[in-house]
Amino acid sequence: MKTIKVILSVLAFTLALTGCKKQPAPAEAEPMPAETEETSEMKDGDETVDYLAVVNKLNPLPENWESIVKTVTVTNQLGREVEVEQTAYEAYLKLKEDLEEEGIYIDLDSVRRSVAEQQRIMDDFTKEYGADYAQKYVAVPGYSEHHTGLALDVYLIIDGKTVIENEEMMAHPEIWEVVHEKMPEYGFILRYLPGKEHITGYGYEPWHMRYVGPDIAKEITEKGITLEGYLGMANETVPEIDYGNSSVYTKEDMDPVITQIKCKFAEWNGCELKRIRYAGDECITEENLEWLRSIGDKSYVKVIEFLMDFHTAKDMQGAWESDHDYTDYQWWLAATEDGSWDIVTWGY
Ligand code: DAL
Ligand code: ZN
Repeated sequence: MKTIKVILSVLAFTLALTGCKKQPAPAEAEPMPAETEETSEMKDGDETVDYLAVVNKLNPLPENWESIVKTVTVTNQLGREVEVEQTAYEAYLKLKEDLEEEGIYIDLDSVRRSVAEQQRIMDDFTKEYGADYAQKYVAVPGYSEHHTGLALDVYLIIDGKTVIENEEMMAHPEIWEVVHEKMPEYGFILRYLPGKEHITGYGYEPWHMRYVGPDIAKEITEKGITLEGYLGMANETVPEIDYGNSSVYTKEDMDPVITQIKCKFAEWNGCELKRIRYAGDECITEENLEWLRSIGDKSYVKVIEFLMDFHTAKDMQGAWESDHDYTDYQWWLAATEDGSWDIVTWGY
């Protein structure tokens, strides 16, 4: 057992250095000086931004974005000034008006963010919920779609009250269903779909809409795919999830942990996730807990192991064979008393 663990740790380290896992480098400079309506009006009229630009865990904000994007500055629901790409904003207003006819009220939360603002959000989430959880919902500064001005987070307003907390917003799926149905007509897609975390890299966010234009938004939504899948940057394979037969963990316990693994997998450029399987209650031992405590240097109280099958990209570097099936790749996670899970180690 000990030998396997040493090999596992060495291989995990090797993968981190050489495999398809790429850790986005932090952005060096603040790419977004605050802009006002006035400054955007002064820009050249001809060039337009690429409404299909992909900004995700592997792709930072395109370099020339700043010089092209035209934004408007408006006041959000909380009374703060926020910047939005102008076409996306016009589309948003039409969507909002249409929804109001159905008795559904939305308003803007966070829209275009600077790298410094993203860093603040990342720091707050990391402090509050831990680094692994933060990775599930917050992009690394420089790699957030919010930098584009094409991504809009909205609040729901129910009975005149603004619903602010994420969990509370999640509790109204029937309202989101109507919002999501109407979005494509106005050019928006739901960017972080449930079940597609291994492609998008983030957990489900019903409030995060992304402007791509009506024709493409309709096509993407009808097909139920991601922007990455639409552009041929990712395979839309639905991975098989095998919860096994645990007498310790329920499906509800496992789902957030699986999402955490899937979000991390999205960094494995070009790799295709086939299957995630609970390793079985045999993984729950005091010896394993001790082992993970020594690696993570935290007082973990719970341990869980999953096994993953995946297919590598056509052009892998390092120790990984290209275009190859790997099975039973191990993921070890541990939770502290407060219930938050860390991905402590992974590998063969
Ligand atoms: N919440 C999304 C992933 C972001 O931080 O850009
Ligand atoms: Zn968002």
